Amino acid sequence: KMDRFIDDLMGKMTIEEKIGQLNLVTAGEATTGSVVSTDVEGKIKAGNIGGIFSMTTPARIRKAQELAVNQSRLKIPIIFGMDVIHGYKTIFPIPLGLAATWDMDLIQKTARVAAIEASADGLNWTFSPMVDISRDARWGRISEGSGEDTYLSARIAREMVVGYQGDDLKKYNTLMACVKHFALYGAAEAGRDYHTTDMSLHRMYNEYLPPYKAAIDAGAQSIMTSFNDINGVPASANSWLLTDLLRTDWKFNGLVVTDYTAVNELIDHGLGDLQQVSALSLKAGVDMDMVGEGFLTTLKKSLDEGKVSAAAIDRACRYVLEAKYKLGLFEDPFRYCNEDRAKKEIGKSEHLQLAREAATKSFVLLKNANQTLPLKKSGTVAVIGPLANTGANMPGTWSVSADLAKTASLVDGMRAALGNQVQIVTHLGANLTDDAALQERSTMFGRTIPRDDRPAETIIAEAVATANKADVIVAALGESSEMSGESSSRTDLNIPASQRRLLEALLKTGKPVVLVLFAGRPLTLTWENEHVPAILNVWFGGTETGKAVADVLFGDVNPSGKLPATFPQHVGQLPMYYSQKNTGRPLAEGAWFQKFRSNYLDVSNAPLYPFGYGLSYTTFDYSPITLDKQKITASDKLQVSVQLKNAGNYDGAEVVQLYIRDMVGSQTRPIKELKNFQKVFLKKGETKTLTFEVSNEDLKFYNQKLEHISEPGMFKVFVGGNSRDLKEADFELVN
Ligand code: IFM
Repeated sequence: KMDRFIDDLMGKMTIEEKIGQLNLVTAGEATTGSVVSTDVEGKIKAGNIGGIFSMTTPARIRKAQELAVNQSRLKIPIIFGMDVIHGYKTIFPIPLGLAATWDMDLIQKTARVAAIEASADGLNWTFSPMVDISRDARWGRISEGSGEDTYLSARIAREMVVGYQGDDLKKYNTLMACVKHFALYGAAEAGRDYHTTDMSLHRMYNEYLPPYKAAIDAGAQSIMTSFNDINGVPASANSWLLTDLLRTDWKFNGLVVTDYTAVNELIDHGLGDLQQVSALSLKAGVDMDMVGEGFLTTLKKSLDEGKVSAAAIDRACRYVLEAKYKLGLFEDPFRYCNEDRAKKEIGKSEHLQLAREAATKSFVLLKNANQTLPLKKSGTVAVIGPLANTGANMPGTWSVSADLAKTASLVDGMRAALGNQVQIVTHLGANLTDDAALQERSTMFGRTIPRDDRPAETIIAEAVATANKADVIVAALGESSEMSGESSSRTDLNIPASQRRLLEALLKTGKPVVLVLFAGRPLTLTWENEHVPAILNVWFGGTETGKAVADVLFGDVNPSGKLPATFPQHVGQLPMYYSQKNTGRPLAEGAWFQKFRSNYLDVSNAPLYPFGYGLSYTTFDYSPITLDKQKITASDKLQVSVQLKNAGNYDGAEVVQLYIRDMVGSQTRPIKELKNFQKVFLKKGETKTLTFEVSNEDLKFYNQKLEHISEPGMFKVFVGGNSRDLKEADFELVN
């Protein structure tokens, strides 16, 4: 039915109208490049626009849609997109924080709520999920993905797509998902945004591509090309990537859109002038050109000159029209324009409740010496630091639709949660950083933090005086929200020196200090880990951050988050990830340094906090692993069991992780790879037996010929609460 409808429509379209469908413009908000779209209204009427992004509200969208369906010749509706990344108005934790929940149902629910709110405000397409694996925390956009691990990221990708798209894309409350950034954007050299990626096929297939594939297999109907160069051909002009892999091998039948002006940027990549790069990009497999208008202004000329085929333009146009068809826009172009829904659905109390729950579950307790936490709900708490009194920084990066003015600061949120039970005193304590220019670059888009230009010692002295009135100090330190995210790469991952000085002064008071750490990426916390008794990493928790922090600090919620990315001891260890190869000269077990082995002279190979790590107010004991058999064939399933005991004094949840190592093979394999996990809740004193099934699929990898195979031989299976502290057992895969 869809094919017939689109055949008929395309039969009526001029070549200019077909090219018009390939043009995605911005309404002028939230631009992340130098080009901003002009004369949007005129272009809609002329049939020169297929989609608009960053336009919101049913009223504005209705007006634009009316122009398209009443005043353009063929009345083709427009598709309306936006970066709805971790919530729409109700903002959930940044994606790296959501990943730290390891709670798949919860993650799906957050995407569902984002879709409900955004579609109520007129939108039908989101540029999410971002599934780029990143193992280099210098890259600011590590905050927008699910971290370093292939398996965890692939699982999350699936949940996000299902959450956005639901089971029926035509439904008024679903959004079309857009997997991004295809591909390998997170492997930018030296963690510098937009930088080159050069990667072996072996690594790509085994480690970086599976999350994109998982999103597509879950039914994602669009995909965004990335800015980066891949092995000499930028993604947006890469026909191997966009056609051979995506269409031929993966059978993707949705829409391919570029990132913002990515076609134009091919000129700077050195691939030719605008006409040449637009033709290259179309031929490589791009369907829709975001903002740059290279397609709009040059494809007709290229067609006339025989540089692109009519078939390529038809292909791209068909994919755009199919996306609109799948969204039901031809049946009812105003399906998503309902003022009533906007009023009722956006910012609903259930949504806020979910945001609070998600935030509490995303927090990772990194240290808790002498049970500093939880705090008693009485007395006075001093909340000190540049992140204490800024609502605008709570939502975190890429939350363009957040209502910053209405978002409670940490202190206000805590006060709202705690009422009169606890008195809160507060002070700025220190500037975000000593460097005013760096602070300006790190607080853009209204995410301001007040600066105090008096001498640092004066500010610290005042903060210490405030702290001295309290029983306990909460130091609200770390990154501002715009210190991570797009175009926010950093070379120094320490807490800025201004804040470290404040922390030192607060520790000198002799009062218990809890570091509530704001971070969009793994930071280097070696000093803090040594000196501060308790550290709670709260990422950027979204709209309900303050209340959620109170819930966890005061023990209403026991923290259960686990790191989705390794925290290094030192920035010089990057890129760093747990699933490394062994090398031919590994360090001996437990050794710090050995001459002529693979290590550094000045810092050990260990992470500060390993992947999968996170403490609880309770403790969990793991029994040794039991296997139901020692040998399996490819058709068997191995049952791997452990007993988990909540051995502490609080009820709590634990993320039980299962890793595999292929001991001998035709090619080198990682020393550990996550293959499954279960998040379980145990009452204090309770013991549960947990069983995982390991199948041949879990043992497969892509070999040098890119065949997805397993090889008979010995394997190790590991189970535990993080990637370092694990029980292990051996089994064999036999023919
Ligand atoms: O979706 C984003 C992308 O992640 C980065 N560049 C801009 C796009 C649209 O806003």
